[in-house]
Amino acid sequence: MKITVFGSGYVGLVTGVCLADAGNHVLCVDVDAERIATLEVGRCPFYEPGVEDLLARNARAGRMRFTTDPAAGVEHGEILFIAVGTPPQEDGSADLQYVLAVARTIGQHMRDYRVICTKSTVPVGTSRKVRETVASALAARGVVVDFDVVSNPEFLKEGAAVEDFMRPDRIIVGTDSARALHLMRALYAPFNRNHDRLMAMDVESAELTKYAANAMLATRISFMNELALLAEKVGADIEAVRRGIGSDPRIGYQFLYAGCGYGGSCFPKDVKALIHTGAEQGVTLGILKAVEQANAHQKTLLFTRIKAHLGSVRGKTIALWGLAFKPNTDDMREAPSRVLMEALWAEGATVHAYDPIAMEATRRLYGPRPDLILADSAEAACEGADALVLVTEWAQFRSPDFAAIKARMRNPAIFDGRNLYDPGTLRALGFHYQGIGRKG
Ligand code: UDX
Repeated sequence: MKITVFGSGYVGLVTGVCLADAGNHVLCVDVDAERIATLEVGRCPFYEPGVEDLLARNARAGRMRFTTDPAAGVEHGEILFIAVGTPPQEDGSADLQYVLAVARTIGQHMRDYRVICTKSTVPVGTSRKVRETVASALAARGVVVDFDVVSNPEFLKEGAAVEDFMRPDRIIVGTDSARALHLMRALYAPFNRNHDRLMAMDVESAELTKYAANAMLATRISFMNELALLAEKVGADIEAVRRGIGSDPRIGYQFLYAGCGYGGSCFPKDVKALIHTGAEQGVTLGILKAVEQANAHQKTLLFTRIKAHLGSVRGKTIALWGLAFKPNTDDMREAPSRVLMEALWAEGATVHAYDPIAMEATRRLYGPRPDLILADSAEAACEGADALVLVTEWAQFRSPDFAAIKARMRNPAIFDGRNLYDPGTLRALGFHYQGIGRKG
């Protein structure tokens, strides 16, 4: 099929390369000429495993092209995906101006039937606004062209986005049109494993499904984080509790890890946006407000504990392992490492940081500053440190040479923000060890 994807950001590009790999002819449209130029030479503008390979393979095969010309995009695709950004506004609501600008452009150029598909995470009611915007642009031209609007939210995890797209748990398609559904079924047929993964529903339910999924996952995390604080007080170990409750199939093991808070581009933003939608509709989403509050508190925990242990952090050197909001990405959006670093700097500490991928992103974010030293290796970050903080659980931090690390540190203290290490082992090695919700 011929597919156009508006927006070559994270969601758009992953969607584009994966659909091209299934044999479709994909045209990616972006207003950012620099980004299009980067893509044309086969480089992916962000770090995501597998995307660059798929980009190269499908560009070579002639199935993947790029343009800044929206009219060409509207002409090319039978299905037009809208995958542009929906940044949060001051009040927590999603800013729809980019989504609606694409809708307007589509209405200005459309000549034949098109399926217009919202892929960006957009509040309930956006597909209706997209439909109205396209219709009014068509009316302004004085033409009548048939079209359908479909909601098809993505469920991609950063670091595993290609895998998630290629082997989805479910494909949500919200539409009231049999014609559009037929096209969507044909498009996604290659991604059905074992059984039909496509779930058809009405547009509003599809839109809400996306927020409900992320809000539920964020809730699990905040719930475990609060319980971890209680576990510490009553002398329980949250890891044992996690295993204990995870074995119940109604609960399950995933997304039950206590830690230093959730970050990233989705959970914080989507929880906020859903609370905002609730308020607009006169529904108080009290649980989600608490989820958000608990997470904000959780992100300050590491700092509070380091400070309590060291007395003061002024003039101290703190080693950080992991900067990205989670492993296998260079994404620093809402990363717990930022809350920690900024609190340390505000009180006069120096940060020695190491991350396998996100060093460049950190440099871009903070620029050169004397109290941030980006180390060459995980071990080098520990040189002269008064505390080592594990913030992101990259695989390479799992079994370090603790004796060598201890020899490099000024003060052997480990604050484990992801409960990666065994408290008993580290204490036996002579470290002051503190996890999140661990015993002792
Ligand atoms: C998430 C959803 O998983 C995905 O389905 C959706 O499409 C986009 O949002 P992503 O933001 O890439 O994906 O990250 P995810 O792996 O879900 O992790 C989010 C945050 O939660 C990370 O900061 C992670 O460290 C934290 N987390 C996750 C925990 O603190 N504990 C857990 O048990 C799981």
